[in-house]
Amino acid sequence: SDGRQPVIAGNWKMNGRMPGATATIADLAARLATRPGAACAVVICPPAPLLPVLREILGANSRIALGGQDCHAGTSGAHTGDVAAEMLADAGAAYCIVGHSERRADHGEDDRSVAAKAVAAHRAGLTAIVCVGETLAEREAGRALDIVAGQLDGSLPDGATPANTIIAYEPVWAIGTGRTPTTDDVAAMHRHMRAHIAKRDAALGDCRLLYGGSVKAANAAELMAVADVDGALVGGASLAVDDFWPIIETC
Ligand code: G3P
Repeated sequence: SDGRQPVIAGNWKMNGRMPGATATIADLAARLATRPGAACAVVICPPAPLLPVLREILGANSRIALGGQDCHAGTSGAHTGDVAAEMLADAGAAYCIVGHSERRADHGEDDRSVAAKAVAAHRAGLTAIVCVGETLAEREAGRALDIVAGQLDGSLPDGATPANTIIAYEPVWAIGTGRTPTTDDVAAMHRHMRAHIAKRDAALGDCRLLYGGSVKAANAAELMAVADVDGALVGGASLAVDDFWPIIETC
């Protein structure tokens, strides 16, 4: 990954209850403690209400960082049900996913609102994990590269840098389906993404580019070995330590 620190991030989505979540995080922390040399950054993005509890268990200097799954663009106000990036930071998060395809599909988020959320994450001192990815229809129409380039144009805000922004490529049709693109397709997409963002701003070309969509122990090593893949954003296989640990071990 050309000197870029790999990132293995777990997106728990709307999963995680007490006390299972606390046991999972404690187990993961204990296993990581046995690998002081582990090269990757490990991030867990639980449902927001769990953040302070997991932060408390991990302590301040943990090898495991925490992240939110979404944030509002604003800092406070009359936005029932929303959470500000500053609140995630208060609760112990250092990262925030923005623009996940489930948010884009279920909550009507477009590139413009995703960019505003990324700005909010940056304002709060969080690293934004900006998600992009084509649908099956778009891939079958041969439009995957163009769709993703357009999402990058619209979703990456001014002020994005390799330090405050990570990009996750998640083909929508690969999420939760057990289907993954071929390693050739992932390589082509990631090469294209890196070239595209570097055209906008040469420095951005050094952003970490994660692959997400049905990453599991059985395919993680070959996906992580693909050029321009700097880590993984893992859904289902991040929920149990026995599934997540072998993915961490690939880096
Ligand atoms: O954000 C991660 C995600 O969308 C991938 O989910 O369950 O296919 O690993 P999954």
